Amino acid sequence: MAVFPGSPTRNLSGTGGTLVNSLRERHDTMAELKTDQPMTNEDIQALRNAHFIPTATHYYTEALQLVRAQGCYVYDETDKEYLDCIGGIVCLSVGHNHPKIKSRIRKMLDRDEPQHTSLLYLNPNPAKLAEKLTSQTPEKLNRVAFTNSGSEANELAFMAARHATGESFILSLRHGYHGGTSAALASCGHGNWRFQSQPVTAVTTAEAPYCYRCPFGQKKGSCALECAQHVEQTIQTTTHGKIAAMIVEPVMGVGGFIDPPKEYFETVVDIVHRYGGQYISDEVQTGAGRCGGEFLLTKELGIDADIITMAKGFGNGAAIGAVVMKDEIANPLAGRLYFNTFGGDPYQTMQALSTMEIIEEENLIKNAHDMGNYLREGLESLKTRHELIGDVRGRGLLLGLELVKNRQTKEHASKECNQLMEETRKRGLLIGKGGLFGNVVRLAPPLSITRAQVDFVIHVLDESLSIIK
Ligand SMILES: Cc1ncc(COP(=O)(O)O)c(C=O)c1O
Repeated sequence: MAVFPGSPTRNLSGTGGTLVNSLRERHDTMAELKTDQPMTNEDIQALRNAHFIPTATHYYTEALQLVRAQGCYVYDETDKEYLDCIGGIVCLSVGHNHPKIKSRIRKMLDRDEPQHTSLLYLNPNPAKLAEKLTSQTPEKLNRVAFTNSGSEANELAFMAARHATGESFILSLRHGYHGGTSAALASCGHGNWRFQSQPVTAVTTAEAPYCYRCPFGQKKGSCALECAQHVEQTIQTTTHGKIAAMIVEPVMGVGGFIDPPKEYFETVVDIVHRYGGQYISDEVQTGAGRCGGEFLLTKELGIDADIITMAKGFGNGAAIGAVVMKDEIANPLAGRLYFNTFGGDPYQTMQALSTMEIIEEENLIKNAHDMGNYLREGLESLKTRHELIGDVRGRGLLLGLELVKNRQTKEHASKECNQLMEETRKRGLLIGKGGLFGNVVRLAPPLSITRAQVDFVIHVLDESLSIIK
């Protein structure tokens, strides 16, 4: 069975019918279940088993129900408190239920504002958001489109780059992830996310800048950036010599927070441009100030990107994505139709706009920088005490721990990573995991995390790591 990277997966298929029958016996009618009454974990699981497609997996051996959330904390149905250090999957920038976002949603409802309008009508929220977003993008990236997700943002980025260049090849990185829709998934660098008969056309991949496991056997700091040179060889050997675009995450999220050296980007962008391609920087996980320098890591690293895509933390959990592109890529789209029913929805754009304002008002990028450094120090000190930690990496509040059974052989400690998730959960801490082999702990708390909360994270990780054999 294909396994969601980072998920101690239970097979959800098979038992649904029996459980739903017993559930029906406990309720007079199924209609009763449709009210907003609380449900037990077992009841929810039964409905999921009966009706979801079997790709719907969950974290933890016993799935966790979250019923309430505030700031950096979430609460289960017994009111047990957890510090949320993964935020869905890297979606909470300003924390859960921020008062400013709550009051704006309430106001919109109280004023009977339309529950939905598409961009075919005028509404201030998407327009204001486009202006706010372009105030934070690198120079020249000033044309915006809104989508519902990161996958759709990347689909549109590919389409625009292909249209502008007249070329079809998309170059991506092994260990990269850009979404679950057709073209986005075709660019995926993880076998466990692919489907047997899914077509992968006009896509080619280069080796990842994965310093801890350098595919060229080199050491960080003393190499000749062989991974960057591999991009050129890939174009020369697997395409007709021109590409439409290359897509790269400035820190590879699903791949396990792989953070390439800054110099990698300069070399690669130059290669992409020399072969006629557009450079797409996928900031779905790294954006919204998470990396502690600028609102966008692309800008902080001085990457000359032609297109940037965003989602997740951009809307603080609202279903919104964005694509920002240069005029020369946007202009050729004139006269074509691209319509996205919900892209630019008033509620979603209001939430993203408020998120951007809160990040500014509460100086959260600075906090991501400071607390990121503090958390990293703590993680480095854990590494000196726990052999299981092979590598500490990431930027700002996007930090990963690669777990290995043996520091010399670097055997992936996947089972141990699952155990760590279970142990931290018991102690009131939610963490994520990733990497092709599910052996990288991912930490991405809200940008508002405090020093005391970071201390708690380190304390719980320390205690939990001590238990794992
Ligand atoms: C870097 C990156 N790009 C794109 C996506 C796809 O985003 P979504 O799940 O919102 O479609 C993801 C999701 O994990 C991601 O991490």
